[in-house]
Amino acid sequence: MCEALDQLFASNQISRRPQDLAHWGKDRTTGFTVAPSAVVFPQQLSEIVELVKLANRDGLKLVPSGGRTGLSGGAVASQGEVVVSFDRMHRILDFNPADRLVRCQAGVVTATLQNFAVDHDLYYPVDFASSGSSHLGGNIATNAGGIKVIRYGLTRDWIAGLQVVTGSGAVLECNRGLVKNATGYDLRHLFIGSEGTLGFVVEADVRLTAAPEPQRVMLLGVPKFRDILAVLGQLQKAVSLSAFEFFSELALDKVRAARDVGRPLTDPCPFYVLLEFDESSLAAASHAFEHCLAEGWVVDGVLSQSDAQAASLWALREDISESLSPFAPYKSDISVRVRDMPGFLDDVNKLVDAQYPEFEICWYGHIGDGNLHLNILKPDDLDGEAFYQLCHAISPKLYELVAINHGSISAEHGVGLLKRDFLKYSRSASEIDLMRALKGVFDPNQIMNPGKLLV
Ligand code: MLT
Ligand code: ZN
Repeated sequence: MCEALDQLFASNQISRRPQDLAHWGKDRTTGFTVAPSAVVFPQQLSEIVELVKLANRDGLKLVPSGGRTGLSGGAVASQGEVVVSFDRMHRILDFNPADRLVRCQAGVVTATLQNFAVDHDLYYPVDFASSGSSHLGGNIATNAGGIKVIRYGLTRDWIAGLQVVTGSGAVLECNRGLVKNATGYDLRHLFIGSEGTLGFVVEADVRLTAAPEPQRVMLLGVPKFRDILAVLGQLQKAVSLSAFEFFSELALDKVRAARDVGRPLTDPCPFYVLLEFDESSLAAASHAFEHCLAEGWVVDGVLSQSDAQAASLWALREDISESLSPFAPYKSDISVRVRDMPGFLDDVNKLVDAQYPEFEICWYGHIGDGNLHLNILKPDDLDGEAFYQLCHAISPKLYELVAINHGSISAEHGVGLLKRDFLKYSRSASEIDLMRALKGVFDPNQIMNPGKLLV
């Protein structure tokens, strides 16, 4: 088995060194065993096809690995799997301005694609804090969202074609960059968000769009959680938002401690909203702000006067995740329809107060999309495993609330290992049966990313 892998890959394309296994065998989650048997670095499609054939023949299990920025354990290899890194498949292969399509290998870093678009006077709008290291293939595998979803949608909305290798070794060219294609099941969309459980995404046709006009950023202090939604409604009436994010005072504290930055507003406030909009609607945005102030929903605010100031306001939101990582947070990434948000927030608040009185809870997220990130921080004196088990045991209560509101237990991070046991709170038994059946069609010998998404 091992010799076959060594025959397939050159010696500089395979490693079993403990430090490499530790590095490539995991994503940004903590608390899961990391124990791959090897990591391989394919450079072309044919190597992936041969690897999949070998895995089917010899019973190898394969874990696709991109930028390893995932937060649900989707790229963790815990049971002697072979990690398949796309680090060496990072080329932009083709660009066609008439179609505004870029053909990318799966290992293209998100920021590389964003910069490529800018260099061609266009825009790739999917954006998040880990853009500098996440790979396009991983974004596709999790249907990544991020900070611009309110205006531009999710990764799925920008993928016009996919080249995949299924778990049985078939190479599929799905949709080939077409806008219109009414020929039955669109298999492309099954692979988007499949978390590497059906096969490998090898290349993608990505659609670009017109560059946006200059943007302005506003940061507002909102004393009451519930009022964030009134602010959203008011701003949405006035301007076309390209982002509407929120975070709590505790989240801000953690960023300020990690980055040594000052307060954005004079006084502390329980919650902050960060929004971005077209500069041409500045007057309407200012008017809406005055209204929010008069209603008492907002107590203070700051408007960016330069790109540098906009970037430093954004950093207060985008640096949260990294600032929390030393606290080994237990992450919940939940969503409900925006209309269900007010009642949901009240219920979640009560639950959190009752269930987690001794833990620090950090709130932030893409509230304009109905997406909340709830991070429970590990106290210093609690062992990692004990903390994980405690949080995991409480999660069903939170997910019951999500289920009552017809929401999702994973808005954008994916299910992976972290939320696999809770899938039933978002998907019916019939849906899960059909998902298993689909997995069987594409990956009959269950070689792809075992244990992720489905039990
Ligand atoms: C974010 O919104 O910052 C990302 O989803 C990462 C995280 O939730 O920690
Ligand atoms: Zn997020």
